[in-house]
Amino acid sequence: MPSNTNKKNKTIQSIGSPNMLPDSGSSSQKTKAWSGVFTEGTDRRVELFTESISIDRRLYAVDIRGSIAHAQMLCDVGVLTNDEFHQIEEGLLEIRRRIEDNQFAFNIEFEDIHMHIEHALIEMIGDVGRKLHTGRSRNDQVVTDLRLWIREAVDRIDRRLVDVQAAFVGRCDNDFDVILPGYTHMQRAQPVLAPHIWLAYCEKFERDRQRLHDCRSRVNILGLGAAALAGTSIPIDRTKTAEYLGFEQIAANSLDVSSDRDFVLEAAFCLTEIAIHLSTLAEEWILWSTSEFNFLRLPQAFCTGSSIMPQKVNPDVLELIRGKTARIVGNLQTLLVLTKGLPLAYNRDLQEDKTPIFDSFDTIEAVLMLIAPLVEGTILNRESIAGRLDRGYLDATTLMEHLIMKGVPQRTAHEIVGRLVRLAMERNVPLITLPLKEFHEIYEGFDYNVFSILGATNAVNAMQSYGSTAPNQVRIQIDRWKEKINQAYCTTNYQNHEIIPDK
Ligand code: ARG
Repeated sequence: MPSNTNKKNKTIQSIGSPNMLPDSGSSSQKTKAWSGVFTEGTDRRVELFTESISIDRRLYAVDIRGSIAHAQMLCDVGVLTNDEFHQIEEGLLEIRRRIEDNQFAFNIEFEDIHMHIEHALIEMIGDVGRKLHTGRSRNDQVVTDLRLWIREAVDRIDRRLVDVQAAFVGRCDNDFDVILPGYTHMQRAQPVLAPHIWLAYCEKFERDRQRLHDCRSRVNILGLGAAALAGTSIPIDRTKTAEYLGFEQIAANSLDVSSDRDFVLEAAFCLTEIAIHLSTLAEEWILWSTSEFNFLRLPQAFCTGSSIMPQKVNPDVLELIRGKTARIVGNLQTLLVLTKGLPLAYNRDLQEDKTPIFDSFDTIEAVLMLIAPLVEGTILNRESIAGRLDRGYLDATTLMEHLIMKGVPQRTAHEIVGRLVRLAMERNVPLITLPLKEFHEIYEGFDYNVFSILGATNAVNAMQSYGSTAPNQVRIQIDRWKEKINQAYCTTNYQNHEIIPDK
């Protein structure tokens, strides 16, 4: 049997450092788990090129969890004795402790996290450790690790989304009386209540949560037991492994298991949609914080200054959130192209899936953690908003609808109000300041009631449809959202699993 004790002082910390430039030497084939058939060692440059430990070592906890479940199952079916299982379990738990205490040496000769842990186990408990890989392959192992990792990460993101929703809902009562101009084509359109805007974001993030939830059900499938590609002749019991790892389903085709990463792609898309929603918020609030809009003041703790212009308070956090969306979209693109045209079963290309998906989860989590306090700490500049609310004829559409309700056909009403707006524009005044005589000149059917529907407040109050910006409608939605948030905090799957930093 090969003795896996030929250690070299080649840790991943030194990858890329000048003294670690690969030479043309090769490591002893004896250090490799596959060494049997090989007569030559691996070229060091190949080791550096093929290693994934620098990326996948953060899978250590799920890898150990998966291995313990696998060993427990092997014990259940009589392939391992009770004593062997306990030795393996204790060894794996000790390895986890060492990794968490920074007492574990990573070495690129062992390529990836799976090999590192197995190698360390064999060093620690000897031949019993050599039984752990019975009935499995790294191909189904890596899929299982990734599914476990993404499942936890999805739950964390879900909880962070609730935090952002809660930040918006938490503003609604206080901002209830603030009316803002609503825009289409970035032109003033109709007035809207501030909480109506806040809840628009809540709706978007709710669909993001639903998408994640749906994605989670396809992530939460056991791959282990597919072995390399064809299954195994060892009498394993996959229902037990699924039960130990909390998987809801068992993948029914071994070839499918090792070849597919659609669950990774789906998660990457869910994160992309969140990023795109966040970039909308970032863009709006960047604009709203300009002197030109002056609708809000961002908390200074979330802004940065300029090294040359002393007066500047820049919305860098929001700009970076908008900017990081590019990375998230890019990661999705990478995964799409990575998996395009791959033949069935495992191909090494798939190792490249981890960098983009880890990066997307890390980036979104960091952004969501910033957005909630930023939303809470932002102040609406009420006077500045109100002082210019009579600009842009925000009430014109409601005036048109007033005429429609008086029996005027919509196209005619549109024309009448258009002419009134033109008149008001020529005088540079709001509609409400035109005398009734002028209204009559354009359409005789107007009466004094017209003044009770003009102006932003009246226009908002005139709304009636479900989901509109009418105060009573918005109130219904705020109450619904408060209820939803409370429920979400009671039911989210969130567990505080820390992501292990890469460096
Ligand atoms: N590090 C690899 C990955 O992340 C492990 C999978 C199996 N490797 C292999 N040569 N069969 O994809």
